[in-house]
Amino acid sequence: MSNQVRKAVIPAAGLGTRVLPASKAMPKEMLPIVDKPAIQYIVEEAVASGITDILIITNRGKSDIENHFDRTPELEERLLQAGRQEAYDQIVGLTKMANICFVRQKETKGLGHAVNCARSFVGNEPFAILFGDDVILGEKPVTAQLCEAYEKYGLGVVGTKEMPPETVMRGSSLKLEPITGERNLYKCTALVEKVSRKEDLLSNYTILGRCICPPEIFDILDNTKPGVGNEIQLTDALAVLAQTKGLTAVDFEGKRYDMGNKLGILQATVDVALQHPEVSEGFRAYLKEIVDKL
Ligand code: UTP
Repeated sequence: MSNQVRKAVIPAAGLGTRVLPASKAMPKEMLPIVDKPAIQYIVEEAVASGITDILIITNRGKSDIENHFDRTPELEERLLQAGRQEAYDQIVGLTKMANICFVRQKETKGLGHAVNCARSFVGNEPFAILFGDDVILGEKPVTAQLCEAYEKYGLGVVGTKEMPPETVMRGSSLKLEPITGERNLYKCTALVEKVSRKEDLLSNYTILGRCICPPEIFDILDNTKPGVGNEIQLTDALAVLAQTKGLTAVDFEGKRYDMGNKLGILQATVDVALQHPEVSEGFRAYLKEIVDKL
């Protein structure tokens, strides 16, 4: 089996209850950061990491995501007629970035259950998982950083960072051991999902939205019983992988924005707007004007 990662799965079938009412009729993955929906940043990261085939896991409320990556003949023709070549190139280009397919998770039974819907798309090769609400920006795409670790050690990989305990308690907590000679790679020997007491944390390192899994994860998921919240947890399946084949953790470079959380959306908007060629000047001036009144 080749160690090259060509496929990615983006689970985007969650209910998004933390960003209601915005996510009532619109998928939270479509919430814009300045002028692009969150999921487009995630697809762009996958493509920049060498991924050619992407499966987005959706549900019955998420057809806007499919529409975003589809062609729009009337709009395209109108833009061409108006001589707006740049806008035309942008909206057509995003439909050709990768081979993008969709499958529906028919019941919202958890992230592990969503990933398990990708079995026939993935087949017998390693694949990346990019959580549909975690946008990570930086110089080197995070998925590419994880792929390098996969190619080096041939084991599943999780992307991690050290976070405040309150944040770690809302997600996974990882037990890590250093690897001799590595600066930001660790052996991950245990994982636990959503602990209710600080004393039960394995460390303050948590998975932040990116993993690489070998295809064996599907057999593990088939045997994973519902865990916290009565959902099939990807963390529980990764814990089995860590104890059997082994698992590597990458303390990645890049800034992660939690787009499933109102504050995360605002932080992403401010940072991207300050770099955006069209609005950065005006936005910077506006921030300077209001900052004194804070
Ligand atoms: P979250 O834990 O953020 O859950 O999912 P959620 O339902 O989307 O959001 P809240 O907590 O209600 O606000 C993490 C990732 O797993 C996906 C989500 O779309 C998100 O990318 N997910 C979660 C699924 O695809 N299916 C599920 O059943 C659950």
